[in-house]
Amino acid sequence: MHVCSLRLSHFRNYDTLEVEFHPQLNLFLGSNAQGKTNVLEALYCLSTTRSFRGSSDDEIVQFSQEAAAIESVVQREEGQEQVRLELRRDKPKTLLVNGKKQKKLSSLLGRLPAVVFSPDDLFLVKGGPSLRRRYLDTMMFQMDAGYLAHLQQYERALKQRNSLLRQRVPNLESQLAVWDLPLAQHGAAIMKRRLEISAQLSRSAGEALRDLTGGAEKFEVRYEPTLPVEGDEGSLEKKMIEAFTKARREEIARGVTVVGPHRDDLGLWVNGQMLRKFGSQGQQRTGALALKLAQLDILAEGCHTAPLVLFDDVMAELDDKRQAFFLNRLQQGGQAFLTGTAPADFAAAQAKARVFRVEAGKIQMTQEGPKPVPVRA
Ligand SMILES: Nc1ncnc2c1ncn2[C@@H]1O[C@H](COP(=O)(O)OP(=O)(O)O)[C@@H](O)[C@H]1O
Ligand SMILES: [Mg+2]
Repeated sequence: MHVCSLRLSHFRNYDTLEVEFHPQLNLFLGSNAQGKTNVLEALYCLSTTRSFRGSSDDEIVQFSQEAAAIESVVQREEGQEQVRLELRRDKPKTLLVNGKKQKKLSSLLGRLPAVVFSPDDLFLVKGGPSLRRRYLDTMMFQMDAGYLAHLQQYERALKQRNSLLRQRVPNLESQLAVWDLPLAQHGAAIMKRRLEISAQLSRSAGEALRDLTGGAEKFEVRYEPTLPVEGDEGSLEKKMIEAFTKARREEIARGVTVVGPHRDDLGLWVNGQMLRKFGSQGQQRTGALALKLAQLDILAEGCHTAPLVLFDDVMAELDDKRQAFFLNRLQQGGQAFLTGTAPADFAAAQAKARVFRVEAGKIQMTQEGPKPVPVRA
């Protein structure tokens, strides 16, 4: 599977754009603030319906315009498909597939999986737990629409419950209890799934880190929930309700829900040491790369297709050995989009790619790239 073409209108700094991609490697070169990341962002929106920069539609729609559109033709095994996403300032997005409006945006998820590599990935290791939860969640909901439904309902229930806690309404205890059950039901489903994926992640990230460090570093990813995830979903639900009851006084004192998957974390350990606290900057960067490579492997398996690889300003940070490693990985399958400010950023990749020059919201192809070699769709 690959994206054949992309058309944008009033998306960020693009009035209109039409580009045809290489089925394997695509490089975008240009100075800062010209629109390179915006192209990757548009592709990621087609993959997940949202921006990887956490931007709202209001920020994405071009200044002084009311609506933006992202449209692409995707080549699948079963044929070509046209996907169009329309974004408006204060209205929900619309999704059209082959010209037909889709009832649910989420029908897009998992059809065109994508993984972004960016210098900000370092925060996956160094930053707070919310980034690691988001990493887990974006991976999970591309593979499992049921997970997204649990997550959305959990978040809705949590919001209601926290607002009761903040307002200190009368009969607070009995009002809180109303939300305990939905929170426990969706929470238990989320925690079970996170536990499973964490085990898979630990294996996959472990392999990736071994490859990246020539076997020197052993990576362990541990799921760290606020209460032990044991037994089946039903008994976990019961345990969560007990935990809410136990935490009642603390919750009322602090005005927030203190137990549940919204407080989960992933523990990252390298050679038995906590990466966030004891890893060198280099080890932390490599750990983050390994987490992203694991995401690539897990999504490929879970979505039954090689994800798009969006490599935003990352090549320049890698030494020659790592560049060669990634180039080799990228050529094993899937379609890749890389950005950089100078040709030297890409080293060997350049000869094998279609190259585009990005300047002030305009894109020009400067090298067509090799005739594609057949790969797995
Ligand atoms: N909603 C928007 N409307 C118009 N221009 C925008 C919008 N959002 C961002 N931009 C512009 O996009 C440019 C940044 O694009 P970006 O893709 O991040 O650059 P880079 O080439 O450095 O990756 C900036 O010039 C910024 O002003
Ligand atoms: Mg950029």
